[in-house]
Amino acid sequence: MSVQNITIIGLQWGDEGKGKIVDALSGDCRYVVRFCGGANAGHTVIVGTEKYALHLIPSGILRSGVRNVIGNGVAFDPEVADEEIKGLRSRGVEIGDENLAISAASNVVMPWHKLADRLNEAKLGAGKIGTTARGIGPLYSDKATRTLAVRAGDLLDTDVLAEKVARIAEVKNTVFSALYGHTEPIDAEAVTGKYLDYGKRLGGMITDTGAVLRRAIEAGERICFEGGQGSMLDIDHGTFPFVTSSSVTACGVPSGAGVPPKAVGCVVGIVKAYTSRVGAGPFPTEQDNEIGDCLREQGHEYGTTTGRPRRCGWFDAVAVRYAADLSGVDELALMLLDVLSGFERLRICTGYRVNGVDLGVFDSVAAVMDRVECVYEDMPGWEEDITSAKKFSDLPANARAYVERISALVGRDVGLISVGPERGQTIPHETQLKGTGAGN
Ligand code: GDP
Ligand code: IMO
Ligand code: MG
Repeated sequence: MSVQNITIIGLQWGDEGKGKIVDALSGDCRYVVRFCGGANAGHTVIVGTEKYALHLIPSGILRSGVRNVIGNGVAFDPEVADEEIKGLRSRGVEIGDENLAISAASNVVMPWHKLADRLNEAKLGAGKIGTTARGIGPLYSDKATRTLAVRAGDLLDTDVLAEKVARIAEVKNTVFSALYGHTEPIDAEAVTGKYLDYGKRLGGMITDTGAVLRRAIEAGERICFEGGQGSMLDIDHGTFPFVTSSSVTACGVPSGAGVPPKAVGCVVGIVKAYTSRVGAGPFPTEQDNEIGDCLREQGHEYGTTTGRPRRCGWFDAVAVRYAADLSGVDELALMLLDVLSGFERLRICTGYRVNGVDLGVFDSVAAVMDRVECVYEDMPGWEEDITSAKKFSDLPANARAYVERISALVGRDVGLISVGPERGQTIPHETQLKGTGAGN
């Protein structure tokens, strides 16, 4: 099969290793495009001895010749972008308008969004979502309200920005005081000045990225769409309300990037060989015990964005199959398989029951998810360190059987197997993406 574009989607609750795979595949792509989420993402890319944690800047930034795009669907935080660009430049990464473009139509995370995120979570107390406090929910709420939104293009126009900030600040002051008893007013002039400065620094990169991408498609240039978060955190299809606020599945690509649905191309579903989740919400296969602790320690499961310990548990084939079907996943990349070395017995969840009755299908309603009992299938583990395996046949028989069982349960080929965080620790298996840098 000849493949043009590639879409990378997380099929669990985020942090599946998307950054590593985008980096691996982007060597043969002209564009890498973020289409959802914002600085709530934390994508790790390791190049040699250097480790990069990227939040807003797409993971193609470390490859020369790749144009990186922050699409219109992204919650664009100029403060984070500015810091991240500075940090990358200080490490010798060249960034300019030739390799980074920001959609003029992306909505801007303003200081009041981050404040609202914190105040709202504090008010919810025990019922909080456990957000990343990056202002994501409040930003997308204002986008939907329309009259309270600032777009990246507005950062380039003094009059427009000043008018918007003054008007919105008045609304926010009233709301914050009434809702949260927060009475410190927003200094509209100072905010306007600061964000106009961001506009000056980033202005050359702010453009109509949808038009750029549609031209690239016409010219036959390969695009990699880089998903953020994971499908179970999708605003519509995840474990609502314990989700993020954007469309993070492959269904979000066309509207979040400004391209036709056909541009999605080959969809690679990224999954951990087990499961992790940060923040609150249902997690049927969670192991809140020494197994979960062991997965956390072996997998270094601490948030890339917030440093929070991640909740860990067994692989959930029911949830992953649902997510794979939703995004029309063509193949899986099975990540962090090395973390499972040393477990005597591995468990895979193959079904959900509520009150002893099989659910049959996945049900994302949080109230149902909270009550499901998992049906597990057990598999023998392996002792060997697999971090140097280069091909499928280098893996112990039990590891190969585990990979094959996951493939069968999810109904997809496992294209790539990752056995360590580094570029070289990727085993091409049943991938359609040969010749796209996979495994290099
Ligand atoms: P993302 O948000 O999906 O890009 O994933 P994160 O970067 O937040 O978390 C994945 C973590 O796992 C990072 O620390 C990666 O360096 C690391 N990682 C990726 N693949 C592997 C792997 O196969 N084995 C191990 N041990 N670590 C991996
Ligand atoms: P990457 O791209 C893991 C989670 C938060 C919280 C919920 C809502 O690195 O996989 P938000 O700040 O978006 O309002 O938080 O979503 N969350 C993530 N968890 N990885 C992410 O991104 C996440 N982005 C958001 O922990 O539970
Ligand atoms: Mg992450």
